[in-house]
Amino acid sequence: MNEENWCRRRFLKSLPAGAAAAGVLERLLQARAGFASSLQALPQDPSPDWAALGAQYGLAEGITYFNHGSIGTIPVPLQRVRQKYLALCESNPWLYMWDSPWEAPRRQTRRKAARLMGCGPHEVALTHNTTEGFNLLAAGLPLGAGDEVLFSSLNHPGASICWQHHGASRGYKVRRFQFPIQQTPRMGKDELLDAYDRHITRRTRVLAFPHIDNMVGLRHPIGELAALARSKGVEFVAVDGAQSLGMIPVQLQGSEVDFYACSPHKWLQAPKGLGLLYIRRQVQGQLRPMWVTWGQQRWKGTVRIFEDYGTRNLAEVLVLGDAIDFQAKLGIKAKQARYRRLWQHFRRRVQESPGLVWLSPASWDMGASLYSIRLRGKASRQVFQALYPQHGMVFRAFGGPDFDAMRLSLNLFNTSAEIDRFVEAARSLA
Ligand SMILES: Cc1ncc(COP(=O)(O)O)c(C=O)c1O
Repeated sequence: MNEENWCRRRFLKSLPAGAAAAGVLERLLQARAGFASSLQALPQDPSPDWAALGAQYGLAEGITYFNHGSIGTIPVPLQRVRQKYLALCESNPWLYMWDSPWEAPRRQTRRKAARLMGCGPHEVALTHNTTEGFNLLAAGLPLGAGDEVLFSSLNHPGASICWQHHGASRGYKVRRFQFPIQQTPRMGKDELLDAYDRHITRRTRVLAFPHIDNMVGLRHPIGELAALARSKGVEFVAVDGAQSLGMIPVQLQGSEVDFYACSPHKWLQAPKGLGLLYIRRQVQGQLRPMWVTWGQQRWKGTVRIFEDYGTRNLAEVLVLGDAIDFQAKLGIKAKQARYRRLWQHFRRRVQESPGLVWLSPASWDMGASLYSIRLRGKASRQVFQALYPQHGMVFRAFGGPDFDAMRLSLNLFNTSAEIDRFVEAARSLA
């Protein structure tokens, strides 16, 4: 009997005599069928009409959204199916949250996430976000006096502060080195590996770095960097996948990466408050869970001990599975080509504009659909304060002595015309 049938049987058996069991199951199946048919309406691989994809989203009129790297927006078909799951749940909360009907869809979500991450389902914990993933590591890895955790200034606070916090109380040392961010446009793979290599010492037990950082969108060769770290005696390699999962292909099994923490609300456009954490099977026994509750006994020896924090919103877990399907339907190759084309257009427009400076990698292979620029003579926050109210342009502005930049993170349905409008509007402020 396959898993789905097993769960279905178990579920039907669990209902009181006379309950409308078939009806309960039917409503879930109907919600899922409705969502599946909405996928048929999506632009099709191999040459999708990307501008038409915009109709699948609910962004307000007048908003040009260049901030998918901070917070993604959930496609309307996903918003609809999410409402159905929530309504279903509220029709008998105990049944859906604590009994069996959503056990199979929950397993399906984990399997889909594992396929996307190139690993096994027994290696994927369902967390809240990347920050939680890193907190779990900082609190739960076997570290103490004499051990060092190393990361660079490219690490997001969500992948940094937890180490400093727990290091102080647990006695391990945390070393944050200054990444030469100004050299990013000239940086190739070798220079990037060198930048880390120089700082790894015999005491380094953990190396933490982003797959794609959130400031300049530098794409780290995670397999090579993890192998380098291992060859120098690093025991645990932790990668921040917040800006990569859903945007670029990820393959974890077969690499030396031990942990990969993600926030699917960004590039997978899944509900906020749901995360994924890859924990390599071989190291699971060395990590202590952060939350502990009744599931610790039931799920002992499995990845689920790292995710049980009591009652959770299971409807959202189902939507995460659907979000993965939505993205898969668009086609991984077609998505890559689209991100790259937008990147090329943006970069060309910036190069043609003497007042604008490109701060991100100069080649797509080292870059991502997240890039930073600067307007000469103007603070980036000031530019945002002008462009948002006047033109509805949403992007991230960094301000500060070390890094002043406008960061733009474009999704598939952004267009060249939007890029042109942005460049013209920014130039008009020079
Ligand atoms: C690279 C990176 N890591 C971690 C985070 C934190 O994400 P979350 O708040 O979802 O945990 C972000 C958020 O923007 C990020 O860009």
